[in-house]
Amino acid sequence: SWTTSNVVDEQIALIREQVGDKRAICGLSGGVDSAVAAALVQKAIGDQLTCVYVDHGLMRKGETEQVEKDFVAATGVQLKVVDASERFLAALAGVSDPEEKRKIIGREFIRVFEQAQAEIVAEAGVTGAPVEFLVQGTLYPDVVESGGGTGTANIKSHHNVGGLPEDLQFQLVEPLRKLFKDEVRMVGQELGLPEEIVQRQPFPGPGLGIRIVGEVTRERLDLLREADAIAREELTAAGLDREIWQCPVVLLADVRSVGVQGDGRTYGHPVVLRPVSSEDAMTADWSRLPYDVLARISTRITNEVSDVNRVVLDVTSKPPGTIEWE
Ligand code: XMP
Repeated sequence: SWTTSNVVDEQIALIREQVGDKRAICGLSGGVDSAVAAALVQKAIGDQLTCVYVDHGLMRKGETEQVEKDFVAATGVQLKVVDASERFLAALAGVSDPEEKRKIIGREFIRVFEQAQAEIVAEAGVTGAPVEFLVQGTLYPDVVESGGGTGTANIKSHHNVGGLPEDLQFQLVEPLRKLFKDEVRMVGQELGLPEEIVQRQPFPGPGLGIRIVGEVTRERLDLLREADAIAREELTAAGLDREIWQCPVVLLADVRSVGVQGDGRTYGHPVVLRPVSSEDAMTADWSRLPYDVLARISTRITNEVSDVNRVVLDVTSKPPGTIEWE
């Protein structure tokens, strides 16, 4: 019968059999799937696994630290963190077009990841066992969808390691291939991963880069990171995390509106709250959040985030809107 601990035991045995005494690497995105896959493989083969986390500078507040500290503390995994924010920001300079941004982020991600891979392979060469395996957090719906070439598969190729060139010649280790998201969360829990990782809401690979309408700059990222952190804090405090699918916060960087604060006129940017409920992100409805929660988020953002003087609510379902604005 299906129990989480059966799945864990069975997968650990399979991973050991597959990898043997060779080495494996795994890209961490900060998301649930790659974290659970990595934790499972770590449990099976210990230090034969190295994880790579590319910090593109488009992460939300506390996200990189969560991977660096909490994930490592919970799993004891060997982690290579690559701080590539300068590189991503330079590549994104002057770019406002959403698709262009996505392409640039995807391309830079692959370059940085490949470079890290090469370093790990080189280092591993010294101690003998070659790196032959690449761990991926592919889920059952991903397997099904990638056959059909759907929009979702395309979206995911932006950040999944699956977007890597085929000439890398790694064998794939995909211990979550038969599982659905809720089962993956249960496995993560069984492996002792912290709640904040296991219960995370989806977050796009291109990160905050596609939540700034307009050019992505360090200053704008800082503003958005603050606003996003406030919204998440208040939604969590109100106990709404599991009720909503996710709540993107979007900075309209090229828009300004007039406001008043204290005795003075302001001329700042709006941020958009985009809370949605969904089963699978293919369709979504806008979440009817309690007014008092919306009010708290609005008050705090306009008080605490300089240069943001207006908070607006997106009440569009998907379709016709998408969940993300870009
Ligand atoms: P849309 O905006 O297409 O988003 O309605 C559907 C879901 O996918 C997430 N999303 C992404 N996830 N890489 C990802 O890993 C991406 O490039 C990407 N773009 C959108 C989005 O957050 C939502 O959950």
